[in-house]
Amino acid sequence: MELFHHIKSVRDALGKARAAGKTVGFVPTMGNLHNAHLALVQQAKQHCDVVIVSIFVNRLQFGLNEDWDKYPRTLQNDAAKLREIGCDYLFCPEEGEVYPNGMDAQTRVIVPSMANVLCGASRPGHFEGVTTVVTKLFNIVQPDIAVFGIKDYQQLAIIRRMVEDLCIPVEIMAGDIVREADGLAMSSRNGFITAQERPRANQLNQSLNWVKQAILDGRRDFDVLESEAKKQIEMAGFRPDYLSISNSKTLEPAANDDTDITVLGAMYTEAARLIDNVSLSVVN
Ligand code: PAF
Repeated sequence: MELFHHIKSVRDALGKARAAGKTVGFVPTMGNLHNAHLALVQQAKQHCDVVIVSIFVNRLQFGLNEDWDKYPRTLQNDAAKLREIGCDYLFCPEEGEVYPNGMDAQTRVIVPSMANVLCGASRPGHFEGVTTVVTKLFNIVQPDIAVFGIKDYQQLAIIRRMVEDLCIPVEIMAGDIVREADGLAMSSRNGFITAQERPRANQLNQSLNWVKQAILDGRRDFDVLESEAKKQIEMAGFRPDYLSISNSKTLEPAANDDTDITVLGAMYTEAARLIDNVSLSVVN
């Protein structure tokens, strides 16, 4: 695996690959790689001739009081895992390489319709930071396919919309949520869950599945379901951020006759904010 820190070297290497007729798959990450990231890389490998992963802890998508400084940086380990599964290239730029004019002066990309609800309501500016850096990474890598995890459902929906709106020539692929045996979605932030909390940390997933089953059983009192699920999370000792029964495409609150529904939630543990979602199709 070749490791790059500079945009020029990525462009040179991928330029050669493309000139040789190879297709490029891309998995953008912030590192601290676990099995869910590796599954995205495997997925990219199945569809493309060469695969590049980026590791960049993008300060632009973190709020002032968020965990940018605490975010685990585990480059050596990450590189070893990627090498082991046959990743071709790893791009780990310094902040100055990505934001040479500083972050305040950075041109921004905003997807207004979906960026300020759900996670965006609790994390103002977060998705603007994501869409800005992902646009930059797409311009650097120019991938044929980019793979994003469904665990970050809102991020995936926003990126799909951004690519459509800006006519970016990349196919966005979704990678399934990878879960621990008890249902907890794998996340780099799971390392912040305390040993006492861990046995109950799958509560978000349990409550989302409880809502899903209730809808499949015919309930359409979405407001009541949302507040009952939040109560379950509180009873397990966590602070719910939001729990929302949403239209899978628009992320607006689901209407009673919507057929494609996603139930999304976020909750706070002592030191982490965890997110998860489950989708369902309803026959009306
Ligand atoms: O999902 C992530 O890890 C990040 O939001 C991403 C897409 C790499 C952008 O920084």
